[in-house]
Amino acid sequence: MVLSRPPPGGLGGAFDPTLQLLHQAVAAFNAGLWAEAERFARQVLAVRKNDPSALNVLGGAAMNTGRSEAAVPLFEAAARGQPRNPFIAFNLGEAHRRAGRFREAAGALRRAIQLKPDFAEAHAYLGEAYRALGRSDEAEAAYRRALAIQTQLPTALMGLGALARKAGDLELAARFLGGARDALAGQPSRARACSQLGELLLDLGQRPMALAALDEAVRLAPEVPGYWRQLAHGLRDSKVAPEGAVFRETLLALFSRPDVNPRGLATAALVVLRRDHGFDGLLDAISADPGGVDRIIAERRASVVGLLADPVFRSLMVATPIPDVAVELILTSLRRDLLLEAADASPTTGAEDLDLICALAQQCWLNEYVYLVTPEEEVALEALQAASAHWDDDEMRWRAVALIGCYLRLDHALGAANLPADPPALLTALLRQQITEPRVERELATGLRSLRPVQDPTSRAVQVQYEENPYPRWTRCGLGEPTAFRNVIAAALPHLPASELPAVASPRVLVAGCGTGLETMRVVTTYQDAAVVALDLSRASLAYGARKLGEYGIQTVELVHGDILDVAHLGERFDLIESFGVVHHMADPERGLTELSKVLKPGGLMRLGLYSELGRAGVVSARGLITARGYDADSSGVRQLRREFMTDGNLAPDLQGLLSPVSDFWTTSDCRDLLFHVEEHRFSLLQIDDMIARVGLTFLGMEPRHGPDLLRFRAEYPAVSSLRTLRDWHVFEQRHPETFGETYRFWLRRA
Ligand SMILES: C[S@@+](CC[C@H](N)C(=O)[O-])C[C@H]1O[C@@H](n2cnc3c(N)ncnc32)[C@H](O)[C@@H]1O
Repeated sequence: MVLSRPPPGGLGGAFDPTLQLLHQAVAAFNAGLWAEAERFARQVLAVRKNDPSALNVLGGAAMNTGRSEAAVPLFEAAARGQPRNPFIAFNLGEAHRRAGRFREAAGALRRAIQLKPDFAEAHAYLGEAYRALGRSDEAEAAYRRALAIQTQLPTALMGLGALARKAGDLELAARFLGGARDALAGQPSRARACSQLGELLLDLGQRPMALAALDEAVRLAPEVPGYWRQLAHGLRDSKVAPEGAVFRETLLALFSRPDVNPRGLATAALVVLRRDHGFDGLLDAISADPGGVDRIIAERRASVVGLLADPVFRSLMVATPIPDVAVELILTSLRRDLLLEAADASPTTGAEDLDLICALAQQCWLNEYVYLVTPEEEVALEALQAASAHWDDDEMRWRAVALIGCYLRLDHALGAANLPADPPALLTALLRQQITEPRVERELATGLRSLRPVQDPTSRAVQVQYEENPYPRWTRCGLGEPTAFRNVIAAALPHLPASELPAVASPRVLVAGCGTGLETMRVVTTYQDAAVVALDLSRASLAYGARKLGEYGIQTVELVHGDILDVAHLGERFDLIESFGVVHHMADPERGLTELSKVLKPGGLMRLGLYSELGRAGVVSARGLITARGYDADSSGVRQLRREFMTDGNLAPDLQGLLSPVSDFWTTSDCRDLLFHVEEHRFSLLQIDDMIARVGLTFLGMEPRHGPDLLRFRAEYPAVSSLRTLRDWHVFEQRHPETFGETYRFWLRRA
């Protein structure tokens, strides 16, 4: 926004009150005081009806307060008064552009350039208008003219970055955006350049630089939620984290946000914790000698105490399962010691201690009591439960309650009637998590709509598994800004021609096998104006989802209990079906897919996640071992197997990946889902190709886990048609077996 030159004539000479008002209007405008500028400008216009400068100020104030439509006639009137003023022409163009009228914007900006050929901003914004009109070549020429006049003009640099990105030249795009960021030193819009640059660098696989840029965007503009989410996205399962002490504070802030899934932050938090040499040494020593954990804890007590008190560590404990063997072994030992000490009936209670026990109980609930329990602890736990019910000292009883919550869900372990009155504030979160919320879920489960009782024997067995262990247990999720259905598909499948993009504005979406609602939350916050039905076999999972959706104020989802095999009983058809990690758990996945495809509208889309035979090689070998050793497919089998894997110094190489922080190893439901599932099918891409052809579905495209993999595929298969050819993806996968991980994610369409 550029104001015209000050009106002719100074303040000297005969006193002109109107001119004085005009100067005040301009001064207020330049100070960003829009309401004041508007008031002065209106006072001028009350005397001089068509004063172009006052109209220009008024238009500028309107534009800067989000009223670009209202600004247009004001600038037009100003331009009639001063037709040769390039700044007014520029403002008119910018108002048109912000109002989304790019053709008119381009006309006014060309006029500004005609009047002042060296007007760099006008060239740059003309580039913006052309870019919005899809006239990329003209946009590039306009940006380059702007840069010829002003070499570091940020708008032009960012525009060229966007063009390069669109053309697929991410390296060039990153160079332009880096230039824009540098040119914006000290200016508020630097945050936007950092955010765009960070996103691009992530796509390029340059995570440390990307994180530095995204971290800076958050620091420059902490009020923008999107920057926090981008940073969280960049940090997801990251083994690197931005340097500097300030990042600890950023991380703590991320942990407390309702729009960020803390689970994705765990690895970065561990990186930050390990920057302390004492913690690093402690965790390394235990990883190298898991059997020696008690000795190492005794030798490095100061580090253990420091770690347990660290705010980042405490945030981890109450927010997400901690995916680290050494941490798990420390917490398992700590829990044992606390229990045995308490069972000795000589507890010395300190407030700080109770806080730690509560955090430990929350961690254990989050990981669904996956830590190993020794027979000695089982005895002590029973004794503590029996004894504490008779203790008179409330403080001691509450401490016992917190300790019991480290081993058993409190709603199962104690009736509410057994609890003393007035819990201490330290227990609030724990009691909510383990007593109040499960009670709410039990109530919600009774009100669910049901299709009909589950008939299929495999579905029934799967149902039992997920009633016992709803998957996944989550606390907070990443949120996005919902976008028009068509635009989401265009972004996910950029190779689809416009004619193949869906035209429907308010899609009906089915989440088939929705689990505990995490996937449903993603669907709701992805597709604008979507009406969502979420179906699952497990009432416990649905109830968990119902509670969480309620917490987020989501009312556009209908949760339905039932089998995919009965999906026709829903009595409706959908524009989109999302189903991740479900169909491969059916006795006959092809039949499941057929039933789903029948409830898709013609031309409807499906986004599917199916297990990969290649990606799950480690799982297959673990399952062989589980059968050979006879582990039970329940929580005790899960615990035993995990402990064996964690302490086996000679774990076979193909099993080592199971212990990775991003593996489904760290909670009971995850691990049961990963290694002990009652029914599991795995596929190659060729098998999927055959299956979807038989069902009558067309393949539209894959979603590799990482952006750079897509670039690599494009480099090896330049023809656009390859993106839509599963056989090409299959050959690519043979060369790059790590591309998809355990689960293929891809898009289909019904003919
Ligand atoms: C691994 S979980 C995935 C949950 C969710 N899609 C996600 O990604 O978070 C599989 C879910 O599918 C559900 N499921 C499995 N077979 C099903 C069937 N035949 N009909 C409906 N739901 C099913 C299970 O109850 C379970 O909640």
